[in-house]
Order: sequence, then structure tokens, then C-alpha cells
Amino acid sequence: MKGDAAGRDAYPHADLGAVPARGPRRPARIIAIDGPAGSGKSTTARAVAAELQLPHLDSGSLYRAVTWALLQGGVPEAEWANLDPEEVRALGLRLDPASPQEPGGPPRFRVEVDGRDPGEALRSVRVTQRVSTAAAIPAVRTALLQLQRDTARRTGVVADGRDMGTVVFPDADLKIFLVADPEERARRRLLQEGREVSPINLARERALLEARDRRDSGRETAPLVQATDAVRLDTTGMDFREQVEEILRLARTPLDP
Ligand code: C5P
Repeated sequence: MKGDAAGRDAYPHADLGAVPARGPRRPARIIAIDGPAGSGKSTTARAVAAELQLPHLDSGSLYRAVTWALLQGGVPEAEWANLDPEEVRALGLRLDPASPQEPGGPPRFRVEVDGRDPGEALRSVRVTQRVSTAAAIPAVRTALLQLQRDTARRTGVVADGRDMGTVVFPDADLKIFLVADPEERARRRLLQEGREVSPINLARERALLEARDRRDSGRETAPLVQATDAVRLDTTGMDFREQVEEILRLARTPLDP
């Protein structure tokens, strides 16, 4: 059952007052898109959110923000595992509703750390190489769980990450698990970053993506795993528009009465 009662059980602290009862033809309000690194989750989620006029939540940016804050604060990596949730909350992470990134784009949540916007630093190599270590710490996940639920539940959301459908929004209206061959993911990542698609770059990028996947899938808390009720979408042979259209089709499919 996915009605209001189930929602209240899954989100006991959230403000559900503004969420209208779900009719059979109402489009999905919470769409969870999970998958391995470089599978195109964020760009896909952003496009789906724009079409459905729902805010987009890139949950990876939260884990990146924690990593950035720990590095900025000079907390030695060896001590990260000893953090408790209060210490993580004290880093001052906030998700602010922000204007669209581009005209016609979806509303989105912007991450702030202690009143500052970390901007492009979140995507730096320094952060990318350490983010799965920070994300494996139970205290980090506990601190971010409620923040994500409280923010998204009021407005509806298209959220992408690793545990959106399994842990954060187990009652999501639609769950997608996005996959693609590692070679293809590496190729897309190089193109996205404007780098040369040479055999050596491909091999390096692929190794980095696979190492991150192993850490994300192998951790004890909220590992990367497909939710049993998620739709698996292999985008290896699909172009971007096709994959967005397929998710929109699923989101608009009338729900069982
Ligand atoms: O999606 P992105 O590559 O920005 O995520 C960065 C890292 O954040 C992932 O490799 C993973 O370790 C962590 N993450 C997570 N759970 C999420 C989203 C991201 O553990 N829901």
C-alpha cells in the first residue's frame, strides 16, 4: 500500500499536510533514481524534473558537501569514522530551494555549508576521491537522512543517488535503477568533462568509476543496491532523450486504482 497511512509510517517526522491524496491519474510526486557512478542519474533526473515541474535533489551533492566541509575543517581522514551525527549536523549543511540553474530548468535544492555555497569545489578531484569514504560513515548517513526527507516530502521531488529508493524514499511513487556498461559510462564521463576519449583515458576513468562502485556497493550502511520494486533501465544503447522519455512514460502511467 502506498497511501497516506503508509507515508506517515515511512516519514513520521515529515509535514505531510500539503500532500494531496493521490488520485489514479496524478503524476508521481516522489521519483527515486539510483544507480552506479557515471550512469547519468543527475542529468536524467534534472530533465525529468523539468518536464514534471518538480524540484530536483542531487543527493550526491550532500555527501560531497560533507566531504568538502571535513576537508576544509582540516579533520584528518583517519578520524572521520569516529564522528557522531551531532558533529555532522554541526557542519551546518542546509538544502535551500533555489532558482532553476538554467531558464526552463526545474526548481532545485542548493546545498549550503554553514551559509556558504561550495560551488564547483564539490566536483573537484580531491572531493570525488574521498566522498565514498565519508558516505560510508553511519553518522553521516543518519544526519543526512532526515534532512532529505524533510526537504523533499513537502514539495515532491525527483531525487537521484544510491539509496533513494531503498532507504530515503522507500515509499516513492516511482523507482528507477539506471545502469550502463562501465565502458560506456566512462566514455560519457569523459565527454561530459570535455576530455579526450582515448583508450588510456577510457581505461583510467573506467577503473575510477568501478572502484567507487565497489566501495558504494560494499559498504554496510545503505549500500548501492537495486530496490526490489525499482524498474531497471539499461541505457547503454539509448540516447539521452530516449531514457528521459521512458522515465516520463513510467511516471505518467496511471497507477493501479
Ligand atoms: O552521485 P555522485 O557521484 O555525486 O555521488 C558521490 C558519492 O556520494 C557516491 O560515490 C557515493 O559514495 C555517495 N552517495 C551516497 N548516497 C547517495 C548519493 C551519493 O552514498 N544517495
